[in-house]
Amino acid sequence: MATPRPKQPSTTRTLAQRQQAVKPDLDQASHETQKYGEIVKLPNGLSEKVCKDSVALLNQCLADTITLRDMYKKHHWQVVGPTFNQLHLMYDQHYEGQVLLVDILAERIQLLGGIALAMAADIAETTKIERPPRGREPAAVQLKRLAEAHEQIIVGAREAAEKVDKSGDAGSNDVFVSNVLRTNELQVWFLTEHLVAASPVTA
Ligand SMILES: [Fe+2]
Repeated sequence: MATPRPKQPSTTRTLAQRQQAVKPDLDQASHETQKYGEIVKLPNGLSEKVCKDSVALLNQCLADTITLRDMYKKHHWQVVGPTFNQLHLMYDQHYEGQVLLVDILAERIQLLGGIALAMAADIAETTKIERPPRGREPAAVQLKRLAEAHEQIIVGAREAAEKVDKSGDAGSNDVFVSNVLRTNELQVWFLTEHLVAASPVTA
């Protein structure tokens, strides 16, 4: 008895029909599935109000942190002077530290059921950190500007840490203290030591 031949794929479909099956559909209707400011309640033992209040505090800190992060890159590129190499490298190290904070803050917001700010225009509208000029500034002014931005974030983080602690959101308290506060305090130390006018060769 002859072995049955394997079934051949259908050739009745046109080229256009076959291509349609693998063509990305880019004609998508734009709509929001969650509005900014709304909370999607997750089973985390926190009330919707607690999550909403924490998210608002975290988003303010996120906007200020993104602004500081970007100010570090601006100064990394624009720094000049005899301490160019030291500052150029330190600015990038601090930038990386702020990048980590941005992700921790944004993901904390999302896991509380909120929406994290992300785009530059929204950050610019929300941040309380003063906008630096587009042009170049002396290194000492860069350092002062960065130190002031850090202090604003530190003060805000301490206040926020106290508020979320009172409302029972221990996880957000940990982010404000262990991540935001500790990182910013350390970076302020490194920054401000560059503003001391001590000579390396005379006592
Ligand atoms: Fe670089």
